[in-house]
Amino acid sequence: MKTTPIVAAEVDFSDPSAARAPAFDDLYHPRSGAFEQARRVFLGGNGLPERWRARQRFTVLEAGFGLGNNFLATWAAWRDDPARCERLFFVSIEQHPLAPADLLRAHAASPAPALAQQLIEAWPPATCNLHTLDFEGGRVRLLLAFGDVQAWARELVARVDAFYLDGFAPARNPAMWARGVFAMLARLAAPEATAATWSAAQAVREGLRGAGFEVQTAPGGGGKREITLARFAPRFRPPAPPGRQVPDAAPTHALVIGSGLAGAITARALARQGIACTVIERHAEPAAEASGNPAGLFHGAVMGHDGPHARLLRAAALACAGSLRAALARGVPGCIDGLLRLETTLALPAMQALLERQALPPAYVQAVPAARASQLAGIPLSQPAWFYPGGGWADPAALVRDALATAGVTWRGATNVQRIARSGDSWQVFDAAGGMLAEAPLLVLANGTDALPLAGLPAPWLRRQRGQVSWGLRAATIAPRIPVASGGYVLTLPDGRLLFGATHQQGDDDHAVRDSDHRDNRAKAARLIGAGAIAHNEPLRGRVGWRATSPDRLPLVGPVPDLAAPRPSRTDAPRLLPRQPGLWLHSGLGSRGLTTATLCAELIAAQVSGAPWPLEADLVDAIDPARWLARA
Ligand SMILES: Cc1cc2nc3c(=O)[nH]c(=O)nc-3n(C[C@H](O)[C@H](O)[C@H](O)COP(=O)(O)OP(=O)(O)OC[C@H]3O[C@@H](n4cnc5c(N)ncnc54)[C@H](O)[C@@H]3O)c2cc1C
Ligand SMILES: C[S@@+](CC[C@H](N)C(=O)[O-])C[C@H]1O[C@@H](n2cnc3c(N)ncnc32)[C@H](O)[C@@H]1O
Repeated sequence: MKTTPIVAAEVDFSDPSAARAPAFDDLYHPRSGAFEQARRVFLGGNGLPERWRARQRFTVLEAGFGLGNNFLATWAAWRDDPARCERLFFVSIEQHPLAPADLLRAHAASPAPALAQQLIEAWPPATCNLHTLDFEGGRVRLLLAFGDVQAWARELVARVDAFYLDGFAPARNPAMWARGVFAMLARLAAPEATAATWSAAQAVREGLRGAGFEVQTAPGGGGKREITLARFAPRFRPPAPPGRQVPDAAPTHALVIGSGLAGAITARALARQGIACTVIERHAEPAAEASGNPAGLFHGAVMGHDGPHARLLRAAALACAGSLRAALARGVPGCIDGLLRLETTLALPAMQALLERQALPPAYVQAVPAARASQLAGIPLSQPAWFYPGGGWADPAALVRDALATAGVTWRGATNVQRIARSGDSWQVFDAAGGMLAEAPLLVLANGTDALPLAGLPAPWLRRQRGQVSWGLRAATIAPRIPVASGGYVLTLPDGRLLFGATHQQGDDDHAVRDSDHRDNRAKAARLIGAGAIAHNEPLRGRVGWRATSPDRLPLVGPVPDLAAPRPSRTDAPRLLPRQPGLWLHSGLGSRGLTTATLCAELIAAQVSGAPWPLEADLVDAIDPARWLARA
């Protein structure tokens, strides 16, 4: 998906009864009231709240988030309904999101002030991403796709029960009613899906009919003579390819192998979707391998080309900040006060030009001169830097323990899985003596490079890369207030000591903490914050771990390909390749596991449960474990 700059909406609030969009010469809602229209046309027209009753999950997709009134009215109706579905997903596409100040203004007199306030507080940076906002402890999830509807039409994956078609009038906003949009409805519609819109335009009705909907008219209101309602009744539906399957229902329980960041956070995401999880770990403690350092960094990325790496790290950084903030509030050590990445090649004007070209907003990243970077870090820095306000550091082992404490997650240590096998509709896992340890319909391999032999996948798909971090220098006045990184990193631990590193060694299996690595780490830290800051002679402590890195440095996340199955006639895209039912991989997190584990875990939880995917389809392909086969 090509990144497009996100331009905020221009809103004219001069008429107190209805905000107007001058760019489209249209109102955001009728003067009779936004909630009144939402209840009558969108909820009522889709048979809500009745249709979500007794359901595990119900998904709405809206074209045109606008001021967010339809979302708030739907959320309010869900709250007020004692027979509501267990989980409500609301996916909404918006090309021109409101600036935060305008959102505040739009909801100054909201009929649902408490809900509007939560939306305002959770409002994401205006980047071309699919932003996940969780409310009601995750039972109400808003997925906001910022960008043009036609670009998102190819990228969303969901099973949608109700469509709200709420673009501006077709004559003034034809892009919102284009053929590609109706094709999206047909691709995403659940078998009993319905659609509603206040528009009675002939082109809209024809578009719906062409996409396989039965169309009817209904009496309007709020100044409209008629509205349009539709029910999905296609004559033929092509089957979804193996890498795009959305299940009807979620399994009730799952096994996860490995309790590092990947395994623990996947278990939490599954449990929150109502899937009970047992996590099996070979060590007597969780986070005993790569995820056991005292601290690690998380942040996004800016690259010259906004390709899959930059886009994935941005999506992941945006997804992890919210979940890490909640973990920090529960007592996990860490800090989200921002992070500085010093720039060694570009001068400040070139950095600013890059941000302008990619239209990346300051809430996500800023290019700052050395003087501002020094102010932010509280120590003298000699280079300009990228400042990520949503970045920071956290204690990964504490995060793992926090995730394993989620209701519905059971941890089983000192248990080495030697072999896995499919039996009927279940996966069974066995120890070295051949004894069966557990079985479940869903098995997630989150055990680093050791996942590949268990899944029967080729070993070169992941490499083990040794790394050592160092810590122990007690900093006096020269400790950075926020982490500083670039070809290494330095951060200040809560007890005032500095943690810095890390080394990268391919094909090195030495478990010992080495003085030569401490020296390398010290040199890296000196380059970042000056030799004076790390000149102390206190003995250093260190820890060694192994990163699992893939040849293209992207994670390996998704359903495991079935190498034994007959190859289909077309194999040029990973989604076309056959999969092993119920077997999933979450590995290859390289040196960015803190940033990426949350999004990857949420993706797996969505893929196995039938919830809307929190990541655009082309990035799902980019991290799909089958990508190497497709390329071959
Ligand atoms: C020195 C160093 C510094 C780093 N710094 C950062 C940083 O600042 N920021 C960042 O984001 N990332 C950093 N990383 C990377 C980060 O640590 C990893 O991306 C992340 O920890 C990977 O998590 P994981 O769960 O995939 O792997 P692991 O934490 O290794 O977890 C895999 C688990 O599976 C278990 N297991 C394996 N096989 C079996 C089996 N057969 N049966 C049962 N259990 C099994 C293992 O015991 C282990 O507990 C660093 C890594 C290193 C080495
Ligand atoms: C009528 S308003 C939506 C009102 C909204 N549903 C609410 O509850 O407040 C229509 C919205 O469609 C958005 N829009 C227009 N063209 C678009 C496009 N091509 N892609 C995505 N969104 C678009 C507009 O920016 C506007 O916010």
